[in-house]
Amino acid sequence: MDGPHRKRLFGRRQGHRLSPRRQRQLEEHLPRLGLDPAALSAAPPASLFPVPVGEIHLEIGFGGGEHLAHQATRHPGTGFIGCEPFINGVSSLVDLIVTNRLSNVRLYDDDAADILDALPPASLDRVYLLFPDPWPKKRHNKRRFIGPENIARLARVLKPGGCFIFASDIADYVTWTLRHMRACPDFVWTAEGPGDWQAHPEAAPPTRYEAKTRAAGRIPAWLIYQRIGKSNERAGKGSSFNL
Ligand SMILES: C[S@@+](CC[C@H](N)C(=O)[O-])C[C@H]1O[C@@H](n2cnc3c(N)ncnc32)[C@H](O)[C@@H]1O
Repeated sequence: MDGPHRKRLFGRRQGHRLSPRRQRQLEEHLPRLGLDPAALSAAPPASLFPVPVGEIHLEIGFGGGEHLAHQATRHPGTGFIGCEPFINGVSSLVDLIVTNRLSNVRLYDDDAADILDALPPASLDRVYLLFPDPWPKKRHNKRRFIGPENIARLARVLKPGGCFIFASDIADYVTWTLRHMRACPDFVWTAEGPGDWQAHPEAAPPTRYEAKTRAAGRIPAWLIYQRIGKSNERAGKGSSFNL
């Protein structure tokens, strides 16, 4: 269901109690770093950063924020929006932002669908969904982030030529995603061979979840989709694609 009555499908919002230092840090910096979805409808996303930014990237469910902070450090001219309802993860990213003096990150401590709905059309260059909650039981599969509604949201906000990067170590979620994405004519899967989906597409350190999964001997799959549209109508499988 859309709008304010949409059912929230994520798990815990709080794990262990934040230390007094982390609690103070959150209270001091979240008002400045936090993003109100209403602000996205009122102004171009680039104007929400205190430094000039070109591309805008979004990470859905950033967990502890390691990947997002790494990307933001590596690409200071790109604006990053991170969404994560788990407050311990938000605190961890706020700590990374403050420690590394990052000026190109804004975050939202709730459902990413709120941000996707508030963004202007064709306003994002890249969206990451790394190791989303797998909801492995059949009767819970519908809670997965990937589904027709969220795919339509992604198609609306990605620019033509922009990309959606998905990673999971759960084979059933990978085939689920391949199936749902194939049903959407706005995206093309960029893989040309197994090497393209078995290897991490960027020189980024593993996320916390990925490190655990690799330690357990599971190999994640990386699916990269390109948003097709007027400016790249003829692009598709086999067309050159660089991250
Ligand atoms: C399995 S964890 C992976 C975290 C991180 N990406 C990593 O690889 O370590 C999935 C995360 O997605 C978050 N999440 C679940 N539903 C979400 C939603 N609708 N919007 C934003 N984040 C969500 C959860 O709170 C959780 O932290």
